[in-house]
Amino acid sequence: MFGRTLLVRLFNLSAVAVWKLMRLIFLLLLAHVISAGAAVDVWLDSLDLSLLRQGFGSPGTNVSVTGSPLSIAGKKFERGVGTHAASALWIDLAGGAEQFSAKVGVDDNAKGTGSVVFRVWADGQKIFDSGVMRSRDAARNLEVRLNGAKALLLQVTDGADRIAFDHADWADAHFRVNGPSPKAVAFPAEPRVLLTPEPGLSPRIHGPKVFGCRPGNPFLYRIPAQGARPMTFAARGLPDGLNLDTGTGIITGTAPARGEHVVRLRARNLHGKTTREFRIISGDTLALTPPMGWNHWYAHYDRITDAMVREAADLLISSGMADAGYNYVNIDDCWMNAPEQRDPLRAGPLRDASGRLKPNQHFPDMRALADYIHNRGLKAGIYTSPGPLTCGNFAGSYEHEAVDARTFAEWGFDFLKYDWCSYGRVASGEIASTTDTPTWPRGDSPLAVYGHPYRLMGDLLKHQNRDILYNLCQYGMGSVWEWGESVGAQSWRTAGDLGFELDRIFEVALRNASYRAWSRPGSWNDPDYLQIGWVGNARGGGLPRPCPLSSNEQYAYMSLWALMASPLIYSGDLTKLDAFTLNVLCNPEVIEINQDPLGQCAATFMITETTFLMAKDLEDGSKALGLFNDGEFPADVTASWQMLGLRGRQEVRDLWRQKDLGPATAKFGATLPRRSGMLVRLTPFKGR
Ligand code: GAL
Repeated sequence: MFGRTLLVRLFNLSAVAVWKLMRLIFLLLLAHVISAGAAVDVWLDSLDLSLLRQGFGSPGTNVSVTGSPLSIAGKKFERGVGTHAASALWIDLAGGAEQFSAKVGVDDNAKGTGSVVFRVWADGQKIFDSGVMRSRDAARNLEVRLNGAKALLLQVTDGADRIAFDHADWADAHFRVNGPSPKAVAFPAEPRVLLTPEPGLSPRIHGPKVFGCRPGNPFLYRIPAQGARPMTFAARGLPDGLNLDTGTGIITGTAPARGEHVVRLRARNLHGKTTREFRIISGDTLALTPPMGWNHWYAHYDRITDAMVREAADLLISSGMADAGYNYVNIDDCWMNAPEQRDPLRAGPLRDASGRLKPNQHFPDMRALADYIHNRGLKAGIYTSPGPLTCGNFAGSYEHEAVDARTFAEWGFDFLKYDWCSYGRVASGEIASTTDTPTWPRGDSPLAVYGHPYRLMGDLLKHQNRDILYNLCQYGMGSVWEWGESVGAQSWRTAGDLGFELDRIFEVALRNASYRAWSRPGSWNDPDYLQIGWVGNARGGGLPRPCPLSSNEQYAYMSLWALMASPLIYSGDLTKLDAFTLNVLCNPEVIEINQDPLGQCAATFMITETTFLMAKDLEDGSKALGLFNDGEFPADVTASWQMLGLRGRQEVRDLWRQKDLGPATAKFGATLPRRSGMLVRLTPFKGR
């Protein structure tokens, strides 16, 4: 044989050695052929898809995200996974997969809208990128070699135009496996680290440095202070008409004459004493800093009762949240009667004979409830809709606005959330109006149609003898940030319910920050609640469960809300507050960035595919800087003084850890883990 003869000639091998070598080669080849033959197909749809995270709905096994047969540009597929951007599935390959193949595209049920990007990452390296794929684009063929890879990430991002109708299909998706089978795994979450240091025993006064009120109205302010109790309070320069309870730190009375009143607050306990300046500005502007508090929606939905609201007030105090500045206790939908309801105690006549709203039987005495909240130094919030019914189908204020505004004031409420809900039926002319109401069919301008119901209630609230903060909730329609203040509001939701897109806090924040020109004292963009800890499922009003965000994402969430000067309203279950959630919610140095008297929303810089920076000026001449990585892998993020408009040496303080990091002269940067942020304060160096 030619091969044998050649080996004998070339290497001078004996015939026996050559025979042994040939046999070895043959056996190796045979083993390879046998093992290649052992390779099997493992279908993506057979993995545990409950571990897939996605921006909307739940993953479809062999169907689209909405349950229809998988179909891309008219072509139907028997197998695959239907998901929705933003979507991420982590898979442990354990080195056993040779290849991954699929046909990817936007499912036909996206009906011409929807655009997505499919990406595949193996051990941190991007090995496939579909580029932007739109609805009706033919399926793209995906075939990637995986030899030896361990961690695989299948990712779908939105096509940079939000996630509306981003129904994404991994059709015909399967692995060629020769060894251990791929397994879906949870995303690589970091351990829960408590970044905020313990508050300590000696007193520390927190809360806003400026406080707005209207002259002559009832005044209520509980001095937020951390430190061991008992603590005694004092206030130098308190204007006439105001009294301080020295044991509780609650200031009550009648708001002083128009003007600025500079007060020096003091707190003392066994471990020490402290003072802080507090400026009361009596005039026309309320909410000189973003409102802080709690809202029941994501904890109790339509299960809310008087007892739960009272419990929430108590828990704000006992948990220490009120000592960090959270002071509104806000009732959301479902406190009034509904024409029909599965809970008979919530169904009944909507109004009494004189036209006043009737609370349902879970709320026996609204006045007593507000008093209960006030007695603890906290404020009470209530909810209704400008339409005939709220979103939960309870009584709304349509054509009863005046009596409702009066009723809320008489009961003693300090905050009103006014939620569009069924008002669309008025705006469309479907519900005939008995007043001169702008509507689309009449040809009124969008602004007139959107603004009318909100101005109506805004004017009424202004004329009550109470300071009632006014929070518009109409999901950003008609660019509400441009006119919210002019209808008398202090804050307005800039988008739909964040609970539907919690996975996308970074994008939500970037969008919200683009309205920064409208953020200033008394005028706040509201990207919705802080939904961390135990929160309910936005769809279906499920019972609270641990929020789906990793701990780094939760710290980043709070950093973003601080930088944006967003209202800090926690909407989670206060009965299940744990040390971690409190750690995220109650870092005074982080909250101070939110409550800064300048009221700026941070500007965004250096936005790349996965990283960005946010920075804003603070009253004392320093700057708050946030560095963010919303990608799935670690990334370096650096801010240069040049881009921040800074010069010279800056002291850098890590606000989460409350730790000085030393001076920096031209830039500051860090390597950030996946989906995380860092919040620092840069203060010009004053020494030599
Ligand atoms: C939604 C609103 C939520 C919650 C809910 C109550 O429209 O955005 O925050 O108030 O209604 O039904």
